[in-house]
Amino acid sequence: MDGRLGGGDASRALSGIDIVGDIGIIKVPDSLIERRHEMGERLLERLPSLKAVYRQTSPVNVVERVRGIEWLAGERRTATTYVESGCSFKVDVSSVYFSPRLSFERRRVAGICRTGETVVNMFAGVGTFSIVMARLSGVKKVYSIDCNPAAYELMVENVEMNGMGGRVVPLMGDAKDFVRSLRGTADRVLMPLPELAINYMEHAVRYLSGRGWLHVYLHTEGRTGEDAMADAERQTAAGAAAIFNIMEMQSRVVRSIGSRTFQVVVDAYGEGLIRDE
Ligand SMILES: C[S@@+](CC[C@H](N)C(=O)[O-])C[C@H]1O[C@@H](n2cnc3c(N)ncnc32)[C@H](O)[C@@H]1O
Repeated sequence: MDGRLGGGDASRALSGIDIVGDIGIIKVPDSLIERRHEMGERLLERLPSLKAVYRQTSPVNVVERVRGIEWLAGERRTATTYVESGCSFKVDVSSVYFSPRLSFERRRVAGICRTGETVVNMFAGVGTFSIVMARLSGVKKVYSIDCNPAAYELMVENVEMNGMGGRVVPLMGDAKDFVRSLRGTADRVLMPLPELAINYMEHAVRYLSGRGWLHVYLHTEGRTGEDAMADAERQTAAGAAAIFNIMEMQSRVVRSIGSRTFQVVVDAYGEGLIRDE
């Protein structure tokens, strides 16, 4: 192919770029696949703070939420440091999930936590939500669970690096497996994994001590954000049937992830109804 890539191509790549620290990850359309390295170079020229550009080669996988990537330009490394809300996070874009697009949501949840609360974060990744909450609010403890060993290792480092040892407790394993030791301890439970949130609601309720908050993240379809929120509230109410008496519920669109798909968070306050064991 002849000629330099058009400015429109670089602009399109820029509009969908995920920037994590100094690494950019783009989606390259099939029509430009032969010129992907050139695209990477162009992005490095346009965004001087970037040191490496990768392209996404597969959708995020179901469990660890990790996507396949291919190096395009710049330094050949996948580890970087990301700064948010005064906290620093080591992230490896090849082995853990990370989205800078949730930064407002992390601050929002930190802003509604009350002093002295105990929190369980069931799907904690590299510890971003947990550490931001501990830094920006007076929570006493955040039990921070992830089943991906690579995410857990980085979470342990991030907790230390941000001076949160003792307040943020990294735990490696399935989010349902800590119910045995942490049952009835939490004032608030975070479920930032849309694919599992409804299925794991029963375990989330078991973490609560009497009344408390569940933050349920879901992907829902809708013509508008309002439709998506209404659907997310319906799903949450249906998932709560017979296990959680919802006394207060509100929702917000976290982000749009397609023309008719939204990520929505439902904040539900209520009381656990599970009386077994
Ligand atoms: C969407 S990411 C979490 C993002 C994170 N809260 C943030 O703000 O960056 C979901 C995480 O859940 C973890 N995960 C998936 N299934 C799990 C399970 N059954 N138990 C615990 N963690 C799980 C994945 O490894 C992944 O790191």
